[in-house]
Amino acid sequence: SAATARTLLILGASGDLTGRLLLPGFAGLLGSGKVRPVRLAGAGSSGYGEEKWQERVRSVFADAEQKATTEGREVLEQVRASTSFHEVDVTAPGQLRSLIDSLEGPVAVYFALPPAVSEKACRLLVETGVPEGTRLVLEKPFGSSAQSARDLNAILAQLVPERDVFRVDHFLGKGTVFNILGLRFANRLLEPVWSNLHIEKVEIFFDEDLALENRAGYYDNAGALRDMIQSHLLQVMALLALNAPASLGERNLRDHIGSLLRAARVKPGYAETTRRARYTAGEINGKAIPSYTDEPGVDPAKNTETLAELEIEINNMRWAGVPFILRSGKALGRRRKEAMITFKPVPHLPTGFHGVDEPTRLRIGFSPETLQLEIDVNGPGDIFTLDRAVLATEMNTSNLLPYGEVLDGVLAGDPLLSVRGDIAEDCWRIVEPVLHAWEAGEVPLEEYPAGSLGPSSWPTSCDGGQLGAPVSSTPLKPTV
Ligand code: BG6
Repeated sequence: SAATARTLLILGASGDLTGRLLLPGFAGLLGSGKVRPVRLAGAGSSGYGEEKWQERVRSVFADAEQKATTEGREVLEQVRASTSFHEVDVTAPGQLRSLIDSLEGPVAVYFALPPAVSEKACRLLVETGVPEGTRLVLEKPFGSSAQSARDLNAILAQLVPERDVFRVDHFLGKGTVFNILGLRFANRLLEPVWSNLHIEKVEIFFDEDLALENRAGYYDNAGALRDMIQSHLLQVMALLALNAPASLGERNLRDHIGSLLRAARVKPGYAETTRRARYTAGEINGKAIPSYTDEPGVDPAKNTETLAELEIEINNMRWAGVPFILRSGKALGRRRKEAMITFKPVPHLPTGFHGVDEPTRLRIGFSPETLQLEIDVNGPGDIFTLDRAVLATEMNTSNLLPYGEVLDGVLAGDPLLSVRGDIAEDCWRIVEPVLHAWEAGEVPLEEYPAGSLGPSSWPTSCDGGQLGAPVSSTPLKPTV
């Protein structure tokens, strides 16, 4: 009933994240009809205000109505009609608590704010505490080192139980990312070969053709390693590599994610096992891209990398000896967003075969959402000639946007899709030594022109070249 409806309070109502990702995700969730009673409140500093907030919500919700179910449309209308805006300075003592108290029902507080501001607000909240049942939702980056993540966790632990803390990693809300579990554990075929006995290497790529997109204020302090690898790609790696949990309960699954990540570290010898680069001027899809260092707001002296690659080792029985290569970069000439699992060659290929002799590969595409199994078979013509065949399918794994899935978990009180505190600390523990080595100049910052495939000196250049056929850009049909 309306009396028990939870209020989603978005701090940073006027911000980019709220407009671009949170509200659309939330509206999609409401429109899906899969909803519980909920209210929406926005908060921000003076300068924004009731009218602009109402307009922002109205326009995002209007878009979502197009796709909404009949029931969902009613919910969208209810939530829109009752939303409110509140002026608040979360860095002033007492103000956030008063705001929470003034709202109806239990509140989920979403800190869509710069990390330093969120952290300060949480510190101040400890003095007033929060009402029982409050949930806290924090964006990445969660802290900036293992120590700062520990400190932040200690503050949060004084406020609410761990179950009520939601550290957002929207990759866990991506259908294809989560589908790694279905693929691995609902099929007899994969699990028996899913180890160092049969797998040669695992590569996780997130190469983007987007450049900086006016995000210097955030990105120039983050860089590719912190922005993508420390957070998203380590989560993807954990899902690819963890042992089978007995259930998908949050505790069980997150225990397994935590246990996998505790076994992981960047392979020592960072001059060989890590790479970093920054883009110079170039062109992407006919559009001129300025050099990263010429982008407004960028401080060239920060040496921020826009492309990063690490080799990770997972020191447990299943994975010892198998390299996990994680790479992500901006302003590249080709989008490549996939996990690629390369299998070992067969122990003995009967002599007499000729033609292609390439390893079996399984490719899980995150965008577009695809699944491809590349195998060698007897092709047409000479019966002993091997040919490459690709079993491919498109997957439609989610109806909600990633932020819709994340918010669904928040409103349901299920932290399954959020990062547990100990795991957030561990992700920093993994990358921290590399960040230090890079700061100390132990690994050169290379360059690549925007629109290229990364520095040509890199063995794994970003075109897929020796790594396998380029991802098909045409719709995939099952082809054998
Ligand atoms: C964000 C990063 O978390 O993820 C961005 O800050 C990146 O730099 C984005 O572009 C990629 O995720 P998606 O869902 O937009 O593909």
